[in-house]
Amino acid sequence: MLIDVQNLSVRFRGKSAVDGVSLQLSLGERVAIVGESGSGKSTLGRALLGLVAHPGLVVSDRLSIDGSEMSRAGQSDWRKIRGRIIGLMLQDPRYSLHPTMTIGQQIGEVADRAVGDCLAEVGLSPDIARRYPHQMSGGQGQRAYLAMALAQHPKLLIADEPTSALDPPMAAQMMALLGERMSAERMGLLLITHDIDLAMQTCPRLLVMQDGRIVEELLQGQTPAHPFTQRLIQSIPRLPC
Ligand SMILES: Nc1ncnc2c1ncn2[C@@H]1O[C@H](COP(=O)(O)OP(=O)(O)OP(=O)(O)O)[C@@H](O)[C@H]1O
Ligand SMILES: [Mg+2]
Repeated sequence: MLIDVQNLSVRFRGKSAVDGVSLQLSLGERVAIVGESGSGKSTLGRALLGLVAHPGLVVSDRLSIDGSEMSRAGQSDWRKIRGRIIGLMLQDPRYSLHPTMTIGQQIGEVADRAVGDCLAEVGLSPDIARRYPHQMSGGQGQRAYLAMALAQHPKLLIADEPTSALDPPMAAQMMALLGERMSAERMGLLLITHDIDLAMQTCPRLLVMQDGRIVEELLQGQTPAHPFTQRLIQSIPRLPC
């Protein structure tokens, strides 16, 4: 089991953002967390990487990552998990990249092959390597960050709204790239998204979050039982055909 979490809660000044979540993920598995804005999806993703910032308080009965119990782990323990065991792609990565290092320097620090190849894979031209994070668009930043995450060959990628800043063709290209990596390297995916359509296309198992709790687990092809999940599905805009 790559991730085994029991009864995980995150509170910000007494208010729960994540409320008693249990979650198991095997090696190479694809799981999506879906739910509306503010339901706690990103906070849960951050808690799985020891990245909940002050004043957030994380408590759990078990927080096991790749066989290590992390509920009392310090930042040096978490650094061994981040990047190599679990990679992260954040909702707005421009603020997570190092502001005074070029993209090329940041990818070069972690990559085992040429920076230009890593950039080409995510559809970016080699001259992006010379830029600083603030000199890129949101979508370019998202792709550069994905290039950095993939360069470390993580066992699992947590992708938080990985396509939200991309136009539809680029979004499709990014999902195809993730699909290739998942097949070629048995990389697992924890996809965090409000887009239940994307989640159903990408992952055989969906966890539906509402108000910090997982209210339903849905396997591909199953009809949702929970009224909230039914509402999420009905709210997908569809083009008339
Ligand atoms: N650093 C923080 N301090 C205080 N409250 C926070 C903090 N981070 C998140 N929260 C609160 O926790 C709750 C869950 O936020 P979270 O970002 O996890 O939601 P989300 O499901 O990812 O939403 P979205 O789809 O908009 O990204 C929200 O009520 C949010 O205001
Ligand atoms: Mg979020």
